[in-house]
Amino acid sequence: MKVLILKTKEEACEWVANHLILAIKEFKPTPEKKFLVLGLPTGSTPVPVYEKLVKAYQNNEISFKNVVTFNMDEYLGLAPTHNQSYHYFMDENLFNHIDLPKSQIHILDGLASNPQQECVDYEEKIASFGGIDIQLGGIGENGHLAFNEPGTSFDSLTHVQQLTDNTIEVNSRFFEKKSDVPQKALTIGLQTIFNAKEVIVLALGEKKAEAVYKSVRGEVSYLCPASMIQNHSNGIFVVDEAAALKLS
Ligand code: GLP
Repeated sequence: MKVLILKTKEEACEWVANHLILAIKEFKPTPEKKFLVLGLPTGSTPVPVYEKLVKAYQNNEISFKNVVTFNMDEYLGLAPTHNQSYHYFMDENLFNHIDLPKSQIHILDGLASNPQQECVDYEEKIASFGGIDIQLGGIGENGHLAFNEPGTSFDSLTHVQQLTDNTIEVNSRFFEKKSDVPQKALTIGLQTIFNAKEVIVLALGEKKAEAVYKSVRGEVSYLCPASMIQNHSNGIFVVDEAAALKLS
């Protein structure tokens, strides 16, 4: 695992965006591998990264025609049209502005009639594309990745996750009131994430400093899901100086 500390939030987002832009540019489809498979996060952290991807598309630098995406998670019970659903977030911040065909976008369905089956199908779908090539993630203040809360097993696959009070509290800033935040979510598992050929975790700001410290310097423990990145041969933590505060 590598840790890349960049001075500002802007520089950290730029590094991640450029990394993805390069991967998209360099990808050449073959009959055996038709698509570059990206795992994508939501949250406020990746927003500037998505803005830069949209710009690169608008400047004719890249096309998403040979890209397939799998989002990390979705709130259970929220319709895709709900303005706090991750479907809505992705449409607003990325998908509505690029040439990625709808058929190549995958997001867990928060309204699935059988959520467990939805999770099994999602894993199969990921496998059918040969797994995730580049998994990008943000990190929760409690060290969660996607919605894998502390305590989630390292061999977890896509599953229904009960959210912790801390996550509900932190994410309530996007809702009118805390009681509007769904208690459960569908999320890819830690094994799903770390099966990716490359894992990039982007952490910005002082609020993430403790989680970054535990993930990078602490022991690899299910109490801090992101610490599992230490065992990934191609894992990289990209942080700004504020998030790296406790590393020095
Ligand atoms: C949510 C998402 C995570 C995200 C985290 C941090 O809980 N499920 O995938 O990493 O929020 O969000 P933010 O980037 O807004 O700090």
